[in-house]
Formats: sequence, C-alpha cells, structure tokens
Amino acid sequence: MGMINVQRLNKSFQGTKALANVNLAIEEGEIFGLLGPNGAGKTTLINILATLLLPDAGKAVINGIDVTKEPDKIRKIIGYSSGYAEFAPSLTGWQNLKFYCMIYGTQPDEKLIEKFRLTDVMGRKVSSYSSGMLQRLGLVIMMNHRPRVLLLDEPTVGLDPAIARIVRNNIKDLKKHKVTVLLTTHNMTEAEELCDRIAFINRGRIITTGTARKIKKLHTLEEAFIKMAEEGK
Ligand SMILES: Nc1ncnc2c1ncn2[C@@H]1O[C@H](COP(=O)(O)OP(=O)(O)OP(=O)(O)O)[C@@H](O)[C@H]1O
Ligand SMILES: [Mg+2]
Repeated sequence: MGMINVQRLNKSFQGTKALANVNLAIEEGEIFGLLGPNGAGKTTLINILATLLLPDAGKAVINGIDVTKEPDKIRKIIGYSSGYAEFAPSLTGWQNLKFYCMIYGTQPDEKLIEKFRLTDVMGRKVSSYSSGMLQRLGLVIMMNHRPRVLLLDEPTVGLDPAIARIVRNNIKDLKKHKVTVLLTTHNMTEAEELCDRIAFINRGRIITTGTARKIKKLHTLEEAFIKMAEEGK
C-alpha cells in the first residue's frame, strides 16, 4: 500500500472534465512529479489531496486516511504549498509563521528560515514582500511542522535560479527523512533532477507513469513532454 493512493478520481467544473478516472500510487519517501500542459488537471489533483476541493467520484487516500472522510487528520500530516501563496498582508513574516505554528502546535524553526534566506525580512509586513519572498515564506510555513507528505504545486515557479536551487536541495534533503513529495513543475530539468518517478497528465487523464529515464527513452524529457501534449490534442 503506497503513502498516496488515488483510485478512479473524477472532477468536473461546469462541464469541463478536470480529472478523468485518475489512478496513482506513490510510495513512502518517493519524490513524484506530476507533469502536464496548462489546464491538464495537476492543481485540481493536488487540491483534492490537500482537502481544499472535493472530488465528484473516486477515492484519494494518504497514509491510509481517506481525504474526503477525515480531512482534519489529513491536514495534520501534509504540508501544502502553491506557487501563489497568500498570507495576511498586514502581518509580518514572523506573525504569519507564528499563526501557523499556533495551529500546528509547533515552534518556528529558525534554521529553516535561514535556509530559505528569509531571516532579514521576517520582521517586515508581508505586504512589502516580493512574490519570490512570499513563495519562500509559504515553503517555510509548510515545512515547519515537518509533515510526512508534501504537496507542492509549482514550488519553484517565479523563484530566481539561486533560490530555486536552494528549494530543490531542500526537497532532495527530505528523502533522508522519508518524506513523500508530490510536486508539479513545468521545468523538465527540475523534474529529472528531483523526481524518482513522473506521471504525464493531459486533459485530466494520466498518459504515462515511470522514471524520467523510461519515459524519455531516446528523447529529452522536454521532447517527450511536447510529444505527449501534441498527441493529447
Ligand atoms: N475553479 C474552477 N472553475 C472552473 N474551472 C476550473 C476551476 N479550476 C480548474 N478548472 C478547470 O479545470 C481544468 C484543470 O485545471 P488545473 O488548474 O487543474 O490545471 P493545471 O494542470 O494545474 O494547469 P496549469 O499548468 O496551468 O497550472 C482546466 O480546464 C481549468 O480551466
Ligand atoms: Mg496548476
């Protein structure tokens, strides 16, 4: 039994099929990449697993817990971050972090703040943050309670190359702690560097699942992606 199990998951928005019978099994400690064109259903799947959205049909289970039946239990074991994080703008970085610490019953991890190069700006109001700072704060907040499962929707989008590298290295480090990571990215190099396995999704359907090496065969991962997207049209 995997750490994340998705069976015949379906979700539509006003007639648009965002997820069509999606099946996925992700093992504990695996870094798993969900790749697909804009509008393929990646965020929809992550949001269902993060208990932010209800599926129309099918089942999603994390660590044996059904995400629709026991969402509170799920929220305790996951960390969720989207590239477009939102915080209370009139509060400082510290105050936002402490708010989440209060909810999770944890303490701020200063090492984590330092790792993400945020120490100097934590005292500033979040309304003054650049988008990259906001995103880094989001990553610190969701890693601070040391979740067993991380759901990362485009974790490096909009980050400068140096910070994106720090984020990737942090994601890789999580392997030592057997954290399970499901991430989305449009950066094929990043997917190859980070992911043990990858799934291509297009129009709500999983097209293929496997290691980057297996999927790309003679192609680069980018070429394999474009071929998959073209075939799905
Ligand atoms: N709240 C919503 N209302 C209506 N349609 C939605 C909503 N959320 C998603 N959709 C539709 O569901 C489909 C899947 O969207 P989703 O955001 O999951 O794609 P994605 O793979 O994350 O794309 P991207 O790479 O652009 O982030 C799209 O057709 C999108 O327009
Ligand atoms: Mg998305």
